[in-house]
Amino acid sequence: MKRVLITGASGFIGSHLIDQALKLGWETIAVLRKTSSREWIPSENVHVELLDLEDPAALSLQMNALIEKYGRINYVIHNAGITHAKRKEAFVRVNVETTRNLAGILAAQQQPPDRFVLISSLAAMGPGDPSTYQPIQVDFRPQPVSAYGRSKLMAEQYLESLGAFPVTIIRPTAVYGPRDRDFLQFFRMIAGGFEPALGWHRQMISMIHVEDLAASVLHLADKGRNTIYLASDGQFYDKMVLGAIIRKALGRTTFRISFPLTPLKAAVGINEFIQRPFGRMPFLNLDKLKEISSANWLCDSSELWNDSGQKPTYLLEEGLIHTAEWYRKMGWL
Ligand SMILES: NC(=O)c1ccc[n+]([C@@H]2O[C@H](COP(=O)([O-])OP(=O)(O)OC[C@H]3O[C@@H](n4cnc5c(N)ncnc54)[C@H](OP(=O)(O)O)[C@@H]3O)[C@@H](O)[C@H]2O)c1
Repeated sequence: MKRVLITGASGFIGSHLIDQALKLGWETIAVLRKTSSREWIPSENVHVELLDLEDPAALSLQMNALIEKYGRINYVIHNAGITHAKRKEAFVRVNVETTRNLAGILAAQQQPPDRFVLISSLAAMGPGDPSTYQPIQVDFRPQPVSAYGRSKLMAEQYLESLGAFPVTIIRPTAVYGPRDRDFLQFFRMIAGGFEPALGWHRQMISMIHVEDLAASVLHLADKGRNTIYLASDGQFYDKMVLGAIIRKALGRTTFRISFPLTPLKAAVGINEFIQRPFGRMPFLNLDKLKEISSANWLCDSSELWNDSGQKPTYLLEEGLIHTAEWYRKMGWL
C-alpha cells in the first residue's frame, strides 16, 4: 500500500487531495496545524498529524517521530500555502520557508520519499502575452506579477537546487469546486443580481475543477517524473462565460458593471499606500489587481493529462453547475 503525506489538509485543495488519496486506497497522513479546522477531514482511515512547518528544528524532530511511527513515506504532497496575506513578507515565510524546511529535512533522510510534489501556481509563471493570447507553455520564462507568484517561483527554485531529490511541481491555474470560498464570493454577487467586471478588454482564462486537480496530482506522484506541469482542464475560456454559466446555474439575471481599470488602479494604490504604515495589505491590492485583470491566463496542460493518464471529469459548465449545487446544499448560497 502506498503511503502519502499531505500538508495543508484542512484547506480547499488539501481536503480534496485527502479524499482522492483515500479513493486510491493509499495510507493517508493529513498534516494540520493545532489551529486548523477538521471540518473536511474524514473521521475514519486518515492519520492526522500536527506539524510545525515554519519551525525547522521542531519539524525535524516531528518528522523523525512520524517516520518512526508509520515507516517511510512514499509521497509527500506539499500543498500548504497562502494565496492572500495581510503582509507581503508572509508569502515568503509560508510559501518559501515551509517548502525549504520540509524538503530540506526529507532530502537529508537516509530513505527519502519516492517523490515530493509541490503545489505551486500558474502565478509563478505570470500571465501570458496579452496581444496574441498564446497559451502559456511550461518552458516560457517565468515573469510573476505578484509577491504571491514570486514566492511560489522561489519555492520551486529551491526544490530544483536540491539536485537528486525527486520533485514534481504542479502549477494549477484558478481552481474551483466544492469547499472553495474564493469563487463563492463571485457566486454570491451573481445571486444578489450584481456582476462586476474589470475593464473592457478581452480576458481569456483557464480553470480546473478541484476533484480533477487532486486526482491528477496523485497519479503524477505515482508516475514519478522530475518535471513541472501546468494544470488546467485543457480548455480556453472567455471570462464572460464564467458569469453567464453561473447566472444560468442560479437562474438569475444580473446588473453587469465594468469598472474602468485606470481609476480603479489609482484607488487601490492609494488605499494600499494608506495601509502600508500599519503593515497591512488590503485584500484587493495592486498585485491582486494585476493578476485578476490580466488578459491572458491560458495555459497548455496537455502534458499533465498525458502523463497522469487521466481525463478531466468536469469542463467549466458542468463544473460550475456542480459547484453551485454544492453551495446551495450547504446553505452557502
Ligand atoms: N485555490 C486556487 O485557486 C489555487 C490555485 C493555484 C495554486 N494554489 C495553491 O494550492 C495550495 C492550497 O490552496 P487552497 O486554495 O486550498 O488554500 P486554503 O484553502 O487557504 O488552504 C491552505 C492550507 O494551507 C495551510 N497553511 C497555511 N499557512 C500555513 C502554515 N504557515 N503552516 C502550515 N500550514 C499552513 C492551511 O492551514 P490552516 O487551515 O491551519 O490555515 C490550509 O490547510 C496553496 O499552496 C496555493 O498556493 C491554489
